[in-house]
Amino acid sequence: MLIKPFRPGDSARIAPSVITPEHVFEDRRRLLRAALAAGITGIGVSWPRAEAAPAALSYQRNERYSIADPPNSYQDVTSYNNFYEFGTDKSDPAANSGRFKPEPWTVTVVGEAEVTGRFSFGDLIKPHALEERIYRLRCVEAWSMVIPWVGIPLGDVLRRFRPTSRAKYVAFETVYRPEQMPGQRSNVLDWPYVEGLRIDEAMHPLTLLAVGVYGKSLPNQNGAPLRLIVPWKYGFKGIKSIVAIRFTEKQPPTSWNVSAPREYGFYANVNPLVDHPRWSQARERPIGRGAFNARVATQMFNGYEAEVASLYAGMDLRRNY
Ligand code: MTE
Repeated sequence: MLIKPFRPGDSARIAPSVITPEHVFEDRRRLLRAALAAGITGIGVSWPRAEAAPAALSYQRNERYSIADPPNSYQDVTSYNNFYEFGTDKSDPAANSGRFKPEPWTVTVVGEAEVTGRFSFGDLIKPHALEERIYRLRCVEAWSMVIPWVGIPLGDVLRRFRPTSRAKYVAFETVYRPEQMPGQRSNVLDWPYVEGLRIDEAMHPLTLLAVGVYGKSLPNQNGAPLRLIVPWKYGFKGIKSIVAIRFTEKQPPTSWNVSAPREYGFYANVNPLVDHPRWSQARERPIGRGAFNARVATQMFNGYEAEVASLYAGMDLRRNY
């Protein structure tokens, strides 16, 4: 296979000023656990996650970037998933992710940026206020769900690394832990799962680095402890359980494009006019809404045409799918 994933630690330059020493991070975690136990999660702590059960988060709803549709139930959002690291059936991620440990967690940042290194989950998230955004997730398999994510605009996080002018793309990599992720013991995809965005897509205010759903930290099956959400693209761009971010000059490989290049492109913009080679993308099945086969029209860019169409001015979106 073509894929050559970068490895966390490769050419990483650690900037000591931006990394919390482990004992300080540990102390914070102890404090947070005490705060959680005391039920004071809303005061000044907006970034924790509990060891086992999802922890309550403190956040503000972003109305401007939320759609008005009623969200799917927590049950739908956490039991009907795509996360091939835990199996290929929709029920596998919830059933098989119990042994996965999203804490402690570090993310390695490498490549074309002035600040690179290894960052704890807390260091990445803590300086930012969390927002809730209700987005429609349109899966390439022609179903959709409405999900209240909690997170941070990805661009706000990426700007802290001061990407250089050579950073034309951003690549992301999921953790590789076959002992905790039974799907990684099969060769259904090349592991680890990798994804990428053009830098302007990554910096777009709609692109979210999600750490929670329904006001709580992400359950394992939804990509704990942090994942991408790019609401105008098919759901597979929303890479889960991210451990590495690389700023790069060249377009990076992406898992589904490597696996089936004629079916899945790099851009993966939701486009009802471009059919998947094996099925139509003109309509979608909203999960949990009435009759099983009820379908509604899919919207161009998943409803965000006004906000994002200019990113692709002059591009042939039938070819660049
Ligand atoms: N990320 C990883 N690492 N592995 C995956 O299999 N599946 C993708 C995306 N992110 C996937 C992934 C697909 S196809 C979809 S539709 C969304 O996750 C589903 O997110 P959800 O289960 O939280 O709804």
